[in-house]
Amino acid sequence: MSTYQNLEKTLGFEKKLPVTKDWSAAPDFLKYISDFCLVNRPEVIVECSSGTSSIVLSRCCQLNQHGHVYSMENGEEFVASTQQQLHDFLLTDHGDIIHAPLSEINLEGKVFQWYDVNKLPEIKIDLLVVDGPPGFLQKHSRYPALPLLYDLLSKHCVIFLDDAAREDEQELVKRWLKDYPEFQAEYIENERGCFVLKR
Ligand SMILES: C[S@@+](CC[C@H](N)C(=O)[O-])C[C@H]1O[C@@H](n2cnc3c(N)ncnc32)[C@H](O)[C@@H]1O
Repeated sequence: MSTYQNLEKTLGFEKKLPVTKDWSAAPDFLKYISDFCLVNRPEVIVECSSGTSSIVLSRCCQLNQHGHVYSMENGEEFVASTQQQLHDFLLTDHGDIIHAPLSEINLEGKVFQWYDVNKLPEIKIDLLVVDGPPGFLQKHSRYPALPLLYDLLSKHCVIFLDDAAREDEQELVKRWLKDYPEFQAEYIENERGCFVLKR
């Protein structure tokens, strides 16, 4: 069974991971993305959201001696707290929390609140982890990730979508596959459900 303690042991953390009940990604999702990262050694990792996952992925880059994490975070207070955690875990060389406030964007006539992607540096993304913005904000809250970041994805970019057991995420993945048919999606039945998209 995946637990935060197992992750701490596997990744050699010397102190407890900062975990916020109900908000941090579940340990089995974190294990999945960290295993992927250690095996595939992505150079550029982008997260939609920040938190425990940013610490875990930055630690993987440190262990790999390769790669960097850019976490887009809308909440100023979470930017400050996750950046402080990176500092406490001596991981600031491996990850950055980017303040990317939500703004209104129009996609095919529908308005979404989404991260300001112009805040990202010029990069090609090898691993994209989508765990925000929160689902309560709007229907298909995480749908804009693919249309808005599409041009920044490297040819072999792999996308992980958390909370995919929810109907909303199931629907938005159907939309992604319809709009971007070069992607295939695999569903992982873990605590909160996860989709892995590859092309
Ligand atoms: C599901 S959380 C992201 C979790 C992150 N991937 C992790 O593993 O910790 C999505 C977003 O919710 C917001 N958030 C985090 N903690 C929160 C809290 N306690 N109350 C309200 N919003 C929160 C932050 O903006 C965060 O980026």
